Amino acid sequence: MASVTRLQDKHAILTGAGGGIGLAVAAAYLNEGARCTVADLSPEPSAEIRLLMSRYPATLIYVATDVTQSASVAQMVERASQAFGPVDVLFNNAAVFDMAPLLESDEAMYQRLFDVNVKGMFFTMQKVLAQMVSQGTRGTVINMASQAGRRGEALVSHYCATKAAVISYTQSAALAMAPSGIRVNAIAPGVVDTPMWGHVDALFARYEGLKPGEKKVAVGHAVPLGRMGHPDEIAGAAIFLASTESAYITAQTLNVDGGNVMS
Ligand SMILES: NC(=O)c1ccc[n+]([C@@H]2O[C@H](COP(=O)([O-])OP(=O)(O)OC[C@H]3O[C@@H](n4cnc5c(N)ncnc54)[C@H](O)[C@@H]3O)[C@@H](O)[C@H]2O)c1
Repeated sequence: MASVTRLQDKHAILTGAGGGIGLAVAAAYLNEGARCTVADLSPEPSAEIRLLMSRYPATLIYVATDVTQSASVAQMVERASQAFGPVDVLFNNAAVFDMAPLLESDEAMYQRLFDVNVKGMFFTMQKVLAQMVSQGTRGTVINMASQAGRRGEALVSHYCATKAAVISYTQSAALAMAPSGIRVNAIAPGVVDTPMWGHVDALFARYEGLKPGEKKVAVGHAVPLGRMGHPDEIAGAAIFLASTESAYITAQTLNVDGGNVMS
C-alpha cells in the first residue's frame, strides 16, 4: 500500500532550523513529502542539517539567513522560491532567549530579544505572506510562541513580552489574511529539551543560586505529564497546522506543553 504523506509537494521555509525544534520539524516535514528551505544564522549548514541533506538531496536546501536583516530574509525567500517554487508553509521559529532580574535588564537585552523574536518573526512572516498573496497561494504560517507569552515571569520579562507579541501578531495576521485563504497560527511549547535550554538552565543557575542542571530537572517535574518535551513532540502539531487537516483553524495558539497551560 502506498504510504500517505500529509505535506506532499508542499514547499516549507523553516527559520532557526539548524538545531532544536526547527531541525526536528524540518526532518518531520521532509518525511511527510515536503520540500524544505532551512534557514539559520551559521554560514554553513550544521552537521545535523548536512546529514538530512544526504538523505533528502533533492528536497532540502540550506540558506544562511539573519532574520533581523530584511535584506537577508528577502534573499532567503528568493533563493527558496528559485529552488522549490512558491512557498506554501512558513515555520517561523528563529528566536533567542535571555533573562535578568527586572531592575538589571538593560536596553541591549531588550533590543536583541525584540530584534530577533518580534521584528525578525514579523518581517519574515510579512515577506512570505506578500508572496503568498501575490501568487494566490492558500498557504499557512506557523509562528513559534511559548508558554512564556501567556504569563509574565519575574526574571524573564523581555522574553515573555516577545512571545506575547508573537501571539498577538499571529491573531492580527490571521484576520488580515483570512480573505486570501491563508491561515496563520502559533504553537506555544512549554519546556522542550533543546540547545536553548542549556543556556536557560545556566541563567537560572546564576540568578536562583542553583546547581547546573537543577532547573531543568525541576521544570520537568513540574509539568503535569512529568517531564520536559522532546523536539519531535512539537513536530506533530507543526505538521497538523501545516496540513489540510487543520483547514478550518486560524488565529489560534496551540499549547504543546504536557499540560502546563490550560486555555
Ligand atoms: N526549548 C523550549 O523549551 C522552548 C519553549 C517555548 C518556546 N520555544 C521556542 O521554540 C523555538 C525554537 O526553540 P529551540 O528551543 O529549538 O531553540 P534553539 O536555540 O535550539 O534554536 C533556535 C535557532 O534560532 C537560530 N537563530 C537565532 N537568532 C537567529 C537569527 N537572527 N536569524 C536566524 N536564526 C537565528 C539559532 O541559531 C538556533 O538554531 C523558539 O522560537 C523558542 O523561543 C522553545
